[in-house]
Amino acid sequence: MPMLEVRDLKLQYSSARGVVKAVDNVSFDIEKGEVLGIVGESGSGKTSLSLALMRVLPKNVHAYEGQVTLDGKEISSLPDEAFRKQVRWRQISMVFQGAQNSLNPVLKVGFQAAEPMLVRSKTDRREARKRVEDLFELVGLPREIYDRYPHELSGGMKQRVGVASALVLDPKLIILDEPTSALDVSIQAQIMNLLKRLKRELGLSMIFITHDIALSSDICDHLAVLYAGEVVEKGSAEQIFGNPKHPYTQLLLASVPRLKSDTDPKYIPGAPPDLTSPPPGCRFHPRCPYRFEPCDHKVPPQVKVDEGQTAKCWLNVESEKVKAKK
Ligand SMILES: Nc1ncnc2c1ncn2[C@@H]1O[C@H](COP(=O)(O)OP(=O)(O)OP(=O)(O)O)[C@@H](O)[C@H]1O
Ligand SMILES: [Mg+2]
Repeated sequence: MPMLEVRDLKLQYSSARGVVKAVDNVSFDIEKGEVLGIVGESGSGKTSLSLALMRVLPKNVHAYEGQVTLDGKEISSLPDEAFRKQVRWRQISMVFQGAQNSLNPVLKVGFQAAEPMLVRSKTDRREARKRVEDLFELVGLPREIYDRYPHELSGGMKQRVGVASALVLDPKLIILDEPTSALDVSIQAQIMNLLKRLKRELGLSMIFITHDIALSSDICDHLAVLYAGEVVEKGSAEQIFGNPKHPYTQLLLASVPRLKSDTDPKYIPGAPPDLTSPPPGCRFHPRCPYRFEPCDHKVPPQVKVDEGQTAKCWLNVESEKVKAKK
């Protein structure tokens, strides 16, 4: 049984331009101890997907649906109050996008990391302090950091504080939303090493969100590629990197620059669609070099292309492949 099962998750926002379909029928599983990468361009719905899993929703939500099961228990049907008490931070926690910039400047970082314990589990302050100092040590920070203020810490250190806060209630799953994107490359590598160590030592399950498919190869066991709010391909890291079946995944991989290569990285022409009115048929068809007859008006099915790998693309539908060749 997978640890987390997500089925047909949907999140839409109201906006002046219409309904934004930010997460559209997204489904995936995560096994215990596994890292799932969610990869996609800016605006593809990565943050919306994680906020939907944490049920941290903005006021302008238009629709929020889907089934989420954690360790065999359906958590999506829990009332908000029960979800807040039993699930958020305690079972699923998150390092928010830009976490290093969202610490409160007037509160000590140790107190901020301890807050979920003080608020949610009524732990006394001494015990909470000890737990946070231990976690600081685990994530490679000196224990003395507890009494420092955010401005006294570097970006990388603040990101480590974010990771420590996410671990404070010992959750089953942690979501990391672009955990390294605002950091220098060398600091980025340090944070990646930290995450890999936590995966190894704590057997943590993680959702690793990034726009950088190359970075995801470093840590992810499985990947889900998101385009315009939909999962267009998913599979193991070997399948996605070794034998990608969706043209969007292929183009994302071809856009990765390589140090020793005679071929220039390719860029993906065009831009992702406006999610208030995504293109009909396959949402990627206006940018797809392989589009053919059905793509601009028929929605492709999610096709099994290999054991554990699926792609939402007409090229992978046998009868259509024959027609496309004609
Ligand atoms: N509260 C909101 N109200 C209306 N639209 C929103 C809201 N939050 C996000 N969106 C829109 O939803 C879509 C998905 O946004 P989201 O932030 O989830 O993407 P993302 O993949 O995380 O992007 P990035 O890589 O830039 O962080 C975008 O079109 C965005 O403009
Ligand atoms: Mg985001």
